[in-house]
Amino acid sequence: MSVVTLSKEGIHQGYQILVNKNNAIKNHSHFTKHLLPIGLRSNETLLEKNTANLLGQLLDSIAAKNKIALVSGYRSLKEQEEIYQSSLLENGKLFTEKYVALPNCSEHQTGLAIDLGEQVEQIDFIRPHFPYSGIAEDFRKQAAKYGFIERYQKNKEALTGISHEPWHFRYVGYPHAQIMQDHHLCLEEYVTFIKDYKYGEKHYCFQADNKKIEICYIKAEANPIILQIPDELYYQISGNNVDGFILTIWG
Ligand code: DAL
Ligand code: ZN
Repeated sequence: MSVVTLSKEGIHQGYQILVNKNNAIKNHSHFTKHLLPIGLRSNETLLEKNTANLLGQLLDSIAAKNKIALVSGYRSLKEQEEIYQSSLLENGKLFTEKYVALPNCSEHQTGLAIDLGEQVEQIDFIRPHFPYSGIAEDFRKQAAKYGFIERYQKNKEALTGISHEPWHFRYVGYPHAQIMQDHHLCLEEYVTFIKDYKYGEKHYCFQADNKKIEICYIKAEANPIILQIPDELYYQISGNNVDGFILTIWG
């Protein structure tokens, strides 16, 4: 048996954390420790290491070299502050609130988010062109398989607090991205949806080829929670950045 200890501070990290204006980033230093460039493409655009590797694989799988630009990946708090302030000056408050997350409330500060643009001469840094056709659509079709979601979809603005952003993708991992896509859930909705599947009760089951994947929710408590997981099972734990953990077990 593997013994896993979940302490309350752990809810702020992991691939399924919800970051938005109601759920700010808590543990900055954690996110800066695991950054990597994306494949051999760019030394400037960094992402969390697993996210960087999977994005590189996805881009290779659709032969996106020279067709898709990596516009913005990991941003430090200082960079997010600068982007927010310069957008306020250039574009005004209304636009900025729609398209730029408040400092400490941006997924870009986690290294789990990437803005992509069609490779053209003039790329708009805040709103790159990433249409629902051509190479951009090829990317979208493969995204869930590699664990990525289009984070700010049309008609979810009231939940996400951000306008439609066809260019912003967030790594949440497989099969979470696939489930969100299949059920048309944004991350805010998914975090709530999974709370109905409590650890030790009925888990959410996802059938992937010949593997069964179980997902469940564990509420954080003041004292550490101890779990025992059979050695033969591969598992992953993420905080939800709200009040608990999401446990994923591959059967
Ligand atoms: N454009 C997204 C919302 C950000 O600034 O994080
Ligand atoms: Zn973005």
